[in-house]
Amino acid sequence: MIQLKQLSSYQPGGAMRVVLKTSGCPSDGLPRQDRDNLAALAPKPGSVELLRAADGDKLTTALYALLPDRAAYDDLEEATGEIIKQLKAQKAGAVDVLLAPGLPDTLLDALMKQLLLADDGFERYRTSGIAPLGPAGEAEQPDRFKPEFTLYLPQEHDLAKAGASLQEAVALAGGIRTARRLVNEPANVMTPDRLAREAQALAREHGFEITVYDERQIQQMGLEAFWSVAKGSDAPPRFLVMRYMNRPDSNQVLALVGKGLTYDSGGYSLKPADSMLTMFCDMGGAGAVISAMAALADMKAPVNVVGIVAACENMISGHAYHNGDIIGSLSGKFIEVVNTDAEGRLTLADAITYAATVVKADKIIDIATLTGAVGVALGHEITGVVCDHEGIYQALSRASEQSGDKIWRLPHFDFLAKANKSERADIKNSGGRPAGTATAALFCRAFAFGVPWGHLDIAGTAYQDKPTSKGPQGATGVGVELLVRAARHLFD
Ligand code: BES
Ligand code: MN
Ligand code: ZN
Repeated sequence: MIQLKQLSSYQPGGAMRVVLKTSGCPSDGLPRQDRDNLAALAPKPGSVELLRAADGDKLTTALYALLPDRAAYDDLEEATGEIIKQLKAQKAGAVDVLLAPGLPDTLLDALMKQLLLADDGFERYRTSGIAPLGPAGEAEQPDRFKPEFTLYLPQEHDLAKAGASLQEAVALAGGIRTARRLVNEPANVMTPDRLAREAQALAREHGFEITVYDERQIQQMGLEAFWSVAKGSDAPPRFLVMRYMNRPDSNQVLALVGKGLTYDSGGYSLKPADSMLTMFCDMGGAGAVISAMAALADMKAPVNVVGIVAACENMISGHAYHNGDIIGSLSGKFIEVVNTDAEGRLTLADAITYAATVVKADKIIDIATLTGAVGVALGHEITGVVCDHEGIYQALSRASEQSGDKIWRLPHFDFLAKANKSERADIKNSGGRPAGTATAALFCRAFAFGVPWGHLDIAGTAYQDKPTSKGPQGATGVGVELLVRAARHLFD
C-alpha cells in the first residue's frame, strides 16, 4: 500500500523514514534535520546509510539513500533493493518515504512499483512450527513484513498525475505478484486444470474474457502437436484463449502466447534429476501472459490483446509420445520428434498457428522458458529476444528500458532455420546445440504463417535461486511488465 502526499506537508517525527536523494540535485523541501544528517553522513552515491536517533523520548530510524547523478533504472533498483532489505530487518510497519527533487517520472514509476513489491515472497508452505491453527484449521503464517508506505513527493511532481501513475504501478505490481504466485506453486498444485481455473478467476476479477478448452476439444480442434506432448500425463491439458478488447477504433489485434508446461520431466529424453527440480517453473511464459492480461485490464489499457496458453505436462507413461514419432499439427505440417524434451516448441507451434489463423492476429509475441542455451548465452538477468519485425522489437526494447526486464536480441537469419530440417518430415523439433535459442525460436516462427512475430526466451530469467534486488528467491515475474508495456506501445 502506498499513500501519496506532498513533501511540503511532511511533519518530521514518528515512524521510520526513508530519504531518497539524487546526488547533484538540491535537497529542497527535505526537513532541516534530514538535510543535516545527509550532510553529516555524506553517503557515497549508490549507497544506503542507516541512522538511529533519539527524538525526545522516541527512537527513530532513518535510511538515507543517495542515488548517483543521472540515475538509471538499475541504480534505483539497487538502492530500493537495499532499502527494502533494511526495512525487512527492522520489521518496519509504517514507513515515510521522502523524495528529494530530481528523480525523473519514469523512475518515480519504478520506485512505486518496487515499494509495492517490497513484501512479496512465496511463504504459503512455510508455516512456523509452533503457530496455532487459525479458525479454519489452517496453520498461521509466520510474522509477515507488511509495510505501509507514505510517499512524500517534491513540488515538481503533480499529485494528481502521480496518482494516475500509482494506479498503473498497482496494476503492474499486482500482475507481477500474480505471475510469481502462479509460477512458484509446485506442479502437484498448479496442474493445467488449476492454471485454467486461476485464469478464469483472474478474468472475473479484472475484467477480461476467457474460454477454456478441455482435452476432448483440444483433439477435435486439431491441436495435434500440443496433444502429443500432453497425452503422456494423467493430468488433462487445457487450452486457454483470453480476450481483452479495449480499442474499438482499431482492428489490430496483438496475440500473446505463453508456454504453459506445468511440469517438464523431459519425457523419454528424460532430464537428469537435478534439472527436473525446478521444472514446475516451465509455465513461466503462461504465468506472464495470464498476469499481463489481468494487469492490462486492471489499468484499462487501450489495446486489443488475445492471450493464448496451451497448458500441459511433459511426462513418461505408456501413453506418452516417443522419440522418433512423427506428429501432425494445427498448421498441417508434420513434425519429427527427435527429442521429447524439446516439447515447449511443439505446444507453442499449435498455439502460434491458432493465433495466426483462428484469431487472425496482426502481430504475435510468444514468451517461453524454452532453452537452457539462453541462460548460457545471456545469464540469469537478461531475456533473449528473437524477432522478425522492427516495430515489435522497438516496442519490446522501449518496454525493456522502462522496466526491470532486460532483453537482448539474438539472430534470426533464414539459414539458421536449416538446422530444423528433417529427413523424415516437414520439420524436426530440435536443431541441436549450436545457436540453440535461435533455432528453437525459428521453429516457432515456422508456425506463424508470416504474421509479424517476436519471441522472448525466459528460461534463464523466470526463476532465481537466491533473493536479489530484483525480488525474492523463486519466480521473478519476468515478462509481465515487458508484455504490458510493449502491448501499449504497439497501440500508441
Ligand atoms: N523447459 C526446458 C528449458 C529450460 C531449461 C527452462 C532450464 C528453464 C530452465 C525446455 O523444455 C527444454 O528442455 N529445452 C531443451 C531443448 C533441447 C532438448 C533442444 C534444453 O534447453 O536442453
Ligand atoms: Mn523440455
Ligand atoms: Zn520445457
